Amino acid sequence: MSDAGTAPNSSVDEAETADSAVEAAARHTPRGLPLRVENLRKEFGGITAVDGATFSVEAGSLTGLIGPNGAGKSTTFNCITGVHDPTAGHVYFQGEEITGLRPDQIANRGLVRTFQIARELHDMTVLENVMLAPRGQVGESLVRSVLPGLRREVVEQERELHERAWETLEFFEIDHLAFEFAGNLSGGQRKLLEMARVLMTDPEMVLLDEPLAGVNPTLERKLLGRVHDLREDGYTFLLVEHDMDVIMNNCEHIIVMHQGKVLAEGEAADIRNNEQVVEAYLGETI
Ligand SMILES: Nc1ncnc2c1ncn2[C@@H]1O[C@H](COP(=O)(O)OP(=O)(O)OP(=O)(O)O)[C@@H](O)[C@H]1O
Ligand SMILES: [Mg+2]
Repeated sequence: MSDAGTAPNSSVDEAETADSAVEAAARHTPRGLPLRVENLRKEFGGITAVDGATFSVEAGSLTGLIGPNGAGKSTTFNCITGVHDPTAGHVYFQGEEITGLRPDQIANRGLVRTFQIARELHDMTVLENVMLAPRGQVGESLVRSVLPGLRREVVEQERELHERAWETLEFFEIDHLAFEFAGNLSGGQRKLLEMARVLMTDPEMVLLDEPLAGVNPTLERKLLGRVHDLREDGYTFLLVEHDMDVIMNNCEHIIVMHQGKVLAEGEAADIRNNEQVVEAYLGETI
């Protein structure tokens, strides 16, 4: 038996202890997995929309979340982002529990979503919609507006916000629509606007719920291109999409939900060849 554990060199022992403490801390702070969903459950009356779903999303990845209609994908997004209170289970973001927090509290931590049906404000212009989105604005409260220093702060912030709004509109190539009422946009342009609004909140991670539904092929390429650009900049994406080609060609990791549960996980090839997945889609080509 070795007595290495009682070796006389105590400085080595201390170094080892310090190292293992760091390792232990790292284990409890899953930096590589910004989002972790554990045993998530959501019931609506007699319907169990999400039935014990457990999965994680890796930092910097574009992960796909797929499943037949009614599988529980949107409800999962709603539970993660605080739109719904889960019936049971836990959601962790950047190593901290966020279960049951309000959507604005979760957005403030850098986790935001788009909606299956875009939620832009019809009676406002595209530019106004984008400028409304950011979190953490100083805001023009009464106190701030009467104090000259803070007043300057507000003006400066407005200017920066304006600049960022234009940059974001240019990034999504909808700057030519800046003064158009959002209600006049096409379905595809609305999706780009919604992405622009999400980006203005300066998120760490974005959940995309069918961002390509009703989007023409040109806009689809544009949107996917932007998602890849952002991912290279370190953003993390979880994408719900029914178009299997889009999922298979763009996502390095795919999670399949069926009847509220995670049915399978893996790379495109694993998912294509998974008999349970094929069966869940009842012979639809995937
Ligand atoms: N607010 C709600 N009240 C009652 N039932 C709901 C509610 N939201 C969702 N459901 C039900 O929960 C189940 C899961 O729905 P969900 O919208 O999460 O599925 P989905 O995977 O996003 O489907 P789709 O691909 O059609 O968008 C469905 O049976 C749906 O009818
Ligand atoms: Mg849905």
